[in-house]
Amino acid sequence: MPAAKYGHLVKNLVFQEFPNRKRARFESNDLEELELIFGWGIWSLAGEYDFGVGRHLHPHAECFVLTGLHYENPGHVSTEIEIEMGEEGEKQVLDSPGIIVAPPDFPHAPIIIRNSNDRPFGTMMIYLGREYTHSNVPVKDEPPPAEKKYGGLVQKFEMHDTERKSGGNADYIASWDGKDIEGVNLNLTWAFHTGLGTWHEKDPHYHPYGEVLLFVGLDAENPEYLGAEIEIAMGEEQEVHIINTSTLVVVPKGLVHCPVITRKVENPYGFSAISLNNEHETTWLG
Ligand SMILES: [Fe+2]
Ligand SMILES: [Fe+2]
Repeated sequence: MPAAKYGHLVKNLVFQEFPNRKRARFESNDLEELELIFGWGIWSLAGEYDFGVGRHLHPHAECFVLTGLHYENPGHVSTEIEIEMGEEGEKQVLDSPGIIVAPPDFPHAPIIIRNSNDRPFGTMMIYLGREYTHSNVPVKDEPPPAEKKYGGLVQKFEMHDTERKSGGNADYIASWDGKDIEGVNLNLTWAFHTGLGTWHEKDPHYHPYGEVLLFVGLDAENPEYLGAEIEIAMGEEQEVHIINTSTLVVVPKGLVHCPVITRKVENPYGFSAISLNNEHETTWLG
């Protein structure tokens, strides 16, 4: 059998254990040198966790995504992320599935995460550079002004019910893009899937930018378990890869990919397409 040409782009998630969470992280050199460092965390926190990071900034944008893990209640989390923003340290809170954006050179942190019960949740860390560097920013003595101005950097996801009748595409999906925030070359989706069959009608396709495709199980105790078996075709050759554990697929700029076909589902699973451009652009070839 010939060696798989694209096997190196299909990566099982390997989780490291932290207090209250398990996390899989990919550096840019794991991701074909995309301008991306990516982490997926799956949390079983009841109570409060302080990341213990002081105020800092990075030369590239850093985004934090909060997701629920419950198919029955896709738009809900019992979690909030509190973050201090700007030199002023203005407090902002995200308390639903959504995204917090720290643009390039924008001071942020400390960050505290709270969960009011023992319901698990997920987080993504998306850093839009190849090297994770930071500079500390001094904390001012005076309290932040009463009038808030950074609310636009904290955006909730609308989990849209697709009323899917057939095929393997999403049952519930949120889409987000960074086109209103300077220096944030990112658009993404977060979705829950249970369907069998082909995801899109017009595959294969490609994009003028790189993307990663995250297929994740929703069990915080066993985050490698996907609960589904999915085929994805890679390249013009349509080389088929089987995804049956939590997996990240790297799609460099211009690489033809898909169709995606779901063959088996035991449990609902999560999917995210994380694309390195501030709006979505697809050329369909099917
Ligand atoms: Fe940061
Ligand atoms: Fe794609």
